[in-house]
Amino acid sequence: MKIYNNILETIGNTPLVKLNKLTKDVEALVLAKVETTNPGNSVKDRMAVKMIEDAENAGLIKPGGTIIEGTSGNTGMGLALAAIIKGYKLICVLNDKQSKEKMDILRAVGAEVVVCPTAVEPTDPRSYYSVSRRLAAETPNSWYVNQYDNLSNRQAHYEQTGPEIWEQTEGKITHFVVGVGTGGTISGVGKFLKEKNPNIKIWGIDTYGSVFKKYKETGIFDENEIYPYITEGIGEDILPKNVDFDVIDLFEKVTDKDAAVYTRKIAREEGIFVGNSAGAAIKGLLQLKDQLTKDDVVVVLFHDHGSRYVGKMFNDDWMRERGFLEEEVKTAADLIEKHGNRPLVTVFAEELVSHAIASMRKYGISQIPVMKDGKFVGAIDDSHVYQLLVDNPALRDVSIATVMGEPFPIVKESDTLEQLSKLINKQTPAVLVEKKDGHFHIVTRYDIIASLS
Ligand SMILES: Cc1ncc(COP(=O)(O)O)c(C=O)c1O
Repeated sequence: MKIYNNILETIGNTPLVKLNKLTKDVEALVLAKVETTNPGNSVKDRMAVKMIEDAENAGLIKPGGTIIEGTSGNTGMGLALAAIIKGYKLICVLNDKQSKEKMDILRAVGAEVVVCPTAVEPTDPRSYYSVSRRLAAETPNSWYVNQYDNLSNRQAHYEQTGPEIWEQTEGKITHFVVGVGTGGTISGVGKFLKEKNPNIKIWGIDTYGSVFKKYKETGIFDENEIYPYITEGIGEDILPKNVDFDVIDLFEKVTDKDAAVYTRKIAREEGIFVGNSAGAAIKGLLQLKDQLTKDDVVVVLFHDHGSRYVGKMFNDDWMRERGFLEEEVKTAADLIEKHGNRPLVTVFAEELVSHAIASMRKYGISQIPVMKDGKFVGAIDDSHVYQLLVDNPALRDVSIATVMGEPFPIVKESDTLEQLSKLINKQTPAVLVEKKDGHFHIVTRYDIIASLS
């Protein structure tokens, strides 16, 4: 029988998958190291088990003890699986920026979850760094993991992830690209690969709001670089001991919006359902594509599974609220959608100007198409009528035909917002949309503005 003795034995040997569509403009071969096939659905299973086993060997944790960690979720999941198999209790301390899915998943695998505010200094007693340390000090027979400074973290990647990538690419890898949080993945993999071939480039992906890039480039830990951001799993407001700046050649920052948009693109264009830091990594790689040639073999690591982000980056409302959604091109049909069931208000050329004014007041509208013999023969709008009446109040009682302007242009339902906005100007405040059923609707300057805001 080919069996595993427990779930921890299934960690690792994750697939390396060629990317095709997203990277079509990149000359190099781009391969994704997809870490979602680990039992905890993230790369972090590897280091979680390694950290516990090293702590056991060092006598830091005893049978029946409690493991305590400040974790954004994935490390917690790996620790939870190992804690179950090895018989420990687990308390995970998370900040309130982490998705609810991550918290629910941790609870599902038996962890106790403590949530702390994000918007406080790391040294603040409410921060998740401080709370984790305090809980560790207060809980008997407990061990504080500290994935940031615990070097078993990067050692796991030096021993497992790095060699896997080297073997899977048959030593042909030229670039390794990955999001950086604790620094464990990049530093462990980077060290292994550089020992095999010092020419391999190691590129770290960072966020706006994090200290890494500036520190790498200037050696300055600049507190002005720190501010809250949305991207999950990468970027830091501290310098974890696991980040080995010597093996990292450069950092590239990616915006929250781009990271979110590209997370969705990986799912939709490659069929690979992965998390937010994967989106950041791919976008960062695309930003750096001019540094790559056709002979290069790039490995980009995707840390975790997309299911942890279904309430966030994969949720249209969440994306829209943050202005992250790249809406499809709007057409005339979209613009009339809201008032498409109301009949178009028109006036006849023979009616008096005073009737047109009454209609505008009644329906709260500013322009009306004018009809004669079933055709659009003109149009009037309130600013034009206002000017005429100020100059000559008697014009109230003449026919609309005598004062009306040119008829509004007629467009098709499929015409784009861009085409419509070219037609609408000071003289032409609206267009008429001809529907497939032969009816007409109006799109005004106001409708265009409202759809853009
Ligand atoms: C989703 C995700 N991406 C990226 C990272 C960064 O990996 P590392 O901590 O090894 O630098 C983490 C780590 O917390 C993560 O959870």
